[in-house]
Amino acid sequence: PAAKKAKLSKLTDLRGSRVRVNGWVHRLRDQKGIIFIVLRDGTGYLQCILSGQVSQTYDALTLTLESSVELTGTLQPVPEGKTAPGGHELVVDFWKVLGAAPGAEDAFTNRLNEKSDASIQADLRHLVLRGETASAILKLRAALLSAFRQSYDANNLIEVTPPCLVQTQVEGGATLFALNYYGQPAFLTQSSQLYLETCLPSLGDVFCIQESFRAENSHTRRHLSEYTHLEAELAFINFDDLMTHIESIICETIDRLLENPTSAALIKQLNPNFTKPARPFTRLSYVDAIKWLNEHGIQHEAEDAEGNVIKDEAGNPKMVDHAVGDDIAEAAERRMTDILGTPVFLHGFPAELKAFYMKKIPNQGGDGPVFTESCDLLMPNVGEIVGGSMRIADMEELLAAYKREGIDPSPYYWFTDQRKYGTCEHGGYGLGVERLLAWLANRYTVRECSLYPRWPGRATP
Ligand code: 4AD
Ligand code: MG
Repeated sequence: PAAKKAKLSKLTDLRGSRVRVNGWVHRLRDQKGIIFIVLRDGTGYLQCILSGQVSQTYDALTLTLESSVELTGTLQPVPEGKTAPGGHELVVDFWKVLGAAPGAEDAFTNRLNEKSDASIQADLRHLVLRGETASAILKLRAALLSAFRQSYDANNLIEVTPPCLVQTQVEGGATLFALNYYGQPAFLTQSSQLYLETCLPSLGDVFCIQESFRAENSHTRRHLSEYTHLEAELAFINFDDLMTHIESIICETIDRLLENPTSAALIKQLNPNFTKPARPFTRLSYVDAIKWLNEHGIQHEAEDAEGNVIKDEAGNPKMVDHAVGDDIAEAAERRMTDILGTPVFLHGFPAELKAFYMKKIPNQGGDGPVFTESCDLLMPNVGEIVGGSMRIADMEELLAAYKREGIDPSPYYWFTDQRKYGTCEHGGYGLGVERLLAWLANRYTVRECSLYPRWPGRATP
């Protein structure tokens, strides 16, 4: 009978029949003249057995890892007491090599594994992707994005696709990638937030999943120069609504992943100890967080007026307690989330530490710092995964904010106009997809969570 062509993830119903499959040789073992192949096609894995005449041809004897092949045979349940992916194996009676691979002498097939030097892994990212872990992470990433889209749809947020080429900044001029745009200065977007704000009167609540770019010279395990930014903006809400919404969207999305057997299995494979976080998430004000850090002896490096780290005679940085007004740096933030072990909303940051568009907490007295309706969501092992805030809705206040930050308002006329043509209380947030995935899949670095990660000095492959 004619063999049915099938993908490896769709074989269960074809047990007992003749099938034809395509894929790459993922594992290869020659056991007393019987060749065992684990075939990979991206959708799954299949054990294939070449024995008798089919295993004695020139092609079979010279077969190499990563060659692409076509295999035809009978699909059988694995014998009692043995295991194989999917619980079945293909007894091959006809096969051919479609594209041979170099085999054991080759850098990839011979040397590369998860312990290889990071720069070799980075250079060979296109081949690393073929590995079980890398491909599982990317599949989970796809499931995560799809689940987010479903959650937004269920909550009546509409997806838009804002531009990457822009002539305004959102998160400060220092981290902009500038480019020559037909002789005019332009930038790669840091955030689509300002565009999302303009969509509210047209589309209602909106979200986007768009690349953002940050020219930060940060060689940390959570910084990329290009990352996937999931951003949303909501109209007619207050600050409490905003934090509740962020928590709900994340938890709903995780629930969707855990309810789906395919994505649940990927989470189990990558992060066997994953448990979904309890709700509600802890909320800690910035001022209380400063106190908490000091109570727990978590200090930061002292800096002089120019921002240089002050060192003692031995060359070690001088460590000091946190004071209200200080930025909570990555190291302190990480220790905090490690101790707490749960998601935490830090909220109410000083305006001085944050971007120009953030709304101030109303009716603040005193002459200390001015605090904003802003929040960062911190996750264990990763730290900040979300940054959000209520936005300045008042025209005069926005004009004053441009002035304070030294921003020329003219290129922002379209953003400012939102306050002219029917302003409203609104807020939103941005979530780093690679950071959320690093938390969900328990990865050491966000670099593992991007298809082709970019960081300072790296824009290939
Ligand atoms: O905190 P950020 O800078 O906030 C904004 O850009 C807002 N305009 C978003 C908004 O309100 N619509 O960035 C948001 C998130 C961070 O919490 C972090 O998860 C991620 O984007 N992020 C990065 N991820 C990887 N590499 C980087 N260099 C990142 N910078 C920010
Ligand atoms: Mg932030």
